[in-house]
Amino acid sequence: MTMWGWVALAVFIVFIIILYLLSPLISPPPLKLRDAHVLVTGGSSGIGKALAIQAVKQGARVTLVARNEKKLEEAKQEVTTYVTSQDKTQRVHTVSVDLSSDYPSVEKAFQEAEKTLGAVDFLINCAGTSVAGRFEDLSISDFKKMIDINYMSAVHATRAIVPAMKARGQGRIVFVSSQAGQIGLFGFTAYSASKFALRGLAEALQMEVKPYNIYLTLAFPPDTDTSGYREEQKTKPLETKLISETSGLLTAENVATVILSDTVVGKFFSSISLDGIMLSNLTCGFSPVTSLMEATQQVVTMGLFRIISLFYLAHFERIIYRCKLQRDSEAGSKKQS
Ligand SMILES: NC(=O)c1ccc[n+]([C@@H]2O[C@H](COP(=O)([O-])OP(=O)(O)OC[C@H]3O[C@@H](n4cnc5c(N)ncnc54)[C@H](OP(=O)(O)O)[C@@H]3O)[C@@H](O)[C@H]2O)c1
Ligand SMILES: *[C@@H]1O[C@H](CO)[C@@H](O)[C@H](O)[C@H]1NC(C)=O
Repeated sequence: MTMWGWVALAVFIVFIIILYLLSPLISPPPLKLRDAHVLVTGGSSGIGKALAIQAVKQGARVTLVARNEKKLEEAKQEVTTYVTSQDKTQRVHTVSVDLSSDYPSVEKAFQEAEKTLGAVDFLINCAGTSVAGRFEDLSISDFKKMIDINYMSAVHATRAIVPAMKARGQGRIVFVSSQAGQIGLFGFTAYSASKFALRGLAEALQMEVKPYNIYLTLAFPPDTDTSGYREEQKTKPLETKLISETSGLLTAENVATVILSDTVVGKFFSSISLDGIMLSNLTCGFSPVTSLMEATQQVVTMGLFRIISLFYLAHFERIIYRCKLQRDSEAGSKKQS
């Protein structure tokens, strides 16, 4: 390398070190899970239950919220086995309520949870469900249901918790979106829209609550092996299956670990796996910055990731075209016979 090469390298290294040193200036102070009250909606199953287990392992008191009482009780038994502390304050509590129905019953249920385990420090909005199908095959009520369960549930739960968090000047709120909340994919017209809605909510709310030391995390998990996922597989169009298979299948434990550690440090975007990182950098848009390092990575990688995304898009288009050819030829041969 020439002398100028070495100088450029040295400048680059100094730049990275300065960024690294300055980064904490704009990053939120971490919030400890030990002795915190973590309320997990959808905590009786899948990713929500895995989040509850991780939180309990790290010393938190946990409230699980879902509808089905039997499933809640079973989850409580399981989560309780991970209690680490000897003193009796580390407990697992359950609340049965339909989060998508009406706000007053959600507010009442949450008040009860706060009476039992104290003010909520971490609210994790994980309750959700999905429906896949081509636009015209989905019923209009499917669209309403997605908005009610995936979006309104989070609005209700967050509305019930934010005033107390603001008064205490501390808190974390997580919204579990999906990679389908970053890109619209074949078969997900109803689901993607409900998950995109969470992003608008989170960005706007983060601006409002940042002065109160409340930090939001928007998580974008890829396909994760849960009972909800297995249920969804039954109705997914072939195109949707083939397209989402490109990003693999993760375990709920894996996803929960990443979401929880990003929440503790107050990262706005929580993404997992290589294409998750690519998607988050590519679609970061005007989102809040919680680390200078991260902002730099976004600026540097965005153009490159856009180029890579063009290849993905071409690949998805080929899948859709091939499936259509197959469908057309099947329909043709049926007509002939
Ligand atoms: N699994 C994946 O591949 C994947 C990928 C990306 C994002 N996600 C998102 O991650 C979240 C969890 O997914 P999962 O696969 O773990 O789901 P899951 O196993 O089906 O669990 C869903 C949980 O939400 C609860 N719930 C559903 N509707 C509710 C309502 N109206 N009121 C209260 N609780 C309700 C369920 O309990 P009850 O039915 O008893 O109420 C259950 O505890 C969802 O928001 C999902 O969209 C999942
Ligand atoms: C952007 O990419 C970097 C790696 O280059 C990764 O560490 C970071 O978490 C990504 N940012 C987001 C918001 O996912």
